[in-house]
Amino acid sequence: MTAIPARPIRFVLNGEDRSVDGVAPTTTLLEHLRRTERLTGTKEGCAEGDCGACTVLVCESDGDGGLHRRAVNACIQFLPAMNGRAIETVEHVGRNGPHPVQTAMVERHGSQCGFCTPGFVMQLYAGWLTGAMSDRASVKDLIAGNLCRCTGYGPIIDAGLDLAAEPLPDTRADDAALSRRLRAIEGDDIFAYEQGDRRWFAPTNVDDLADLYAAHPDAVLVAGATDVGLWVTKQHRDLPTLIDVSHVRDLRVIEEAGGRVYFGAAVTHREARGILADIHPDLGEMLRRFAGYQIRNAGTIGGNIANGSPIGDLPPCLIALDAVLHLRKGDESRQLPLEDFFIEYGRQDRAKSELVVAIEVPRLEDNQRFFAHKISKRLDSDISAVMAAFCLTLDGEGPGARVTEARLAFGGMAGVPKRAARAEAALAGRPFDTHAIEAAVAVLSEDFMPLTDMRASAEYRLKSAQNLLRRFGLQELGAPRINLADIRPESGGEPVGAAS
Ligand code: FAD
Ligand code: FES
Ligand code: FES
Repeated sequence: MTAIPARPIRFVLNGEDRSVDGVAPTTTLLEHLRRTERLTGTKEGCAEGDCGACTVLVCESDGDGGLHRRAVNACIQFLPAMNGRAIETVEHVGRNGPHPVQTAMVERHGSQCGFCTPGFVMQLYAGWLTGAMSDRASVKDLIAGNLCRCTGYGPIIDAGLDLAAEPLPDTRADDAALSRRLRAIEGDDIFAYEQGDRRWFAPTNVDDLADLYAAHPDAVLVAGATDVGLWVTKQHRDLPTLIDVSHVRDLRVIEEAGGRVYFGAAVTHREARGILADIHPDLGEMLRRFAGYQIRNAGTIGGNIANGSPIGDLPPCLIALDAVLHLRKGDESRQLPLEDFFIEYGRQDRAKSELVVAIEVPRLEDNQRFFAHKISKRLDSDISAVMAAFCLTLDGEGPGARVTEARLAFGGMAGVPKRAARAEAALAGRPFDTHAIEAAVAVLSEDFMPLTDMRASAEYRLKSAQNLLRRFGLQELGAPRINLADIRPESGGEPVGAAS
């Protein structure tokens, strides 16, 4: 592949054009804002995407004359990923005097020491602009990735509700102008950035991505950087060459045909949530509890699969649904059942230079019963101890219907997301009733020998997995359905992100 001329990183910061050169490609957006721009309103709390103190608004062209806006954690976003994007910080929000979000925070006493406040302001501001706040529950969801140690969340939620009642300005003309400006910077060719022997590439189509990866087989692919960002900020890993897949338009599509939904690998969790919730509400609830808003705005489906984590939330769900993974290496494409991708801890069926292109998810048939549930220490914004997803195919309706196929997939129970073969065999061919469920529960301990770690003991994991299977059976066989959103703490002063 011919050499690609390197260019400076160009973006729009608080309405002004910026062109940056001479910094390491792994410089974070937060470092740049605070150290170079001296925009110190954006805070660093954890540097790992957990606390929301560094929240900024990132806008990009939607390719149709408008803008996509999303709040992200600046601490784990790499600066070159901002090429062709616009960033708004808390300083800009208050440029014409206090913005309604700031007024609401003051009037509702939503700030004490103030360290977390810019992050909350930005998160509420982004939620307001994107129409994400309608009621108390939606404000709680919105700020589940923001931590406050002093004020208590009640006043902040009240401030969010005040803001939600404010009319939105008509920004269409400004959006269209910014959209054109950003598209012109991003262009259609490969963006290359260099500092010394450190390189960053950002292609915009999948052919260029596949060629680049073939030419740089040791490069690290980066999508939303919600894992890779931490390799730098926490593990101080040296990443000489990075290829950014987040600008690859072919990887950002969601398409549906013949009862199958095709999610490009760079589709974010936020973008995927609506259609996954439509496949089954448990998938929507799982994604509502997947990290916090800012992580879901950046993290991608492809990243959640390719990272090979045994405790990723999506893989068990997608395995239960019998999803098919699309991979590509150079000009060659292949597909495989997602479950076969995970070979053992730290090893996936992915060759050097092979990239995840998409995941294809079948919609449920009328004769299928599905269940997904995540067990974590905190309800919101926490990693799973156990993730369970079940899909049963029945040969009919009502009592006496037999299980023709059982797919029981778990995360957190083995070194990879894995199906419970013995428990599935205990269900297959039997009438779907409590006896069949108990038979499956009884052999689950033969399927898994889970680990004890900081998230849960082995005994807790096994017991949870068994009880989730029982809960699925009870729900399907007539017991009332438990909706976690209905039993969450509802008082004004209860923590949402930290301890609910
Ligand atoms: P990246 O960080 O960009 O990449 C992750 C890995 O995938 C890297 O190895 C990268 O090289 C590779 N990769 C990315 N795209 C491709 C591709 N197209 N082809 C091949 N390889 C690729 N995860 C959960 O499952 N549940 C949670 O509740 C959860 N909470 C989190 C909370 C916080 C605060 C943080 C920081 C992370 C959390 N995560 C959680 C983990 C993470 O957000 C997800 O795994 C996310 O989906 C990763 O996607 P990404 O686009 O950010 O991946
Ligand atoms: Fe905590 Fe970024 S500093 S999320
Ligand atoms: Fe002090 Fe929130 S006001 S951390």
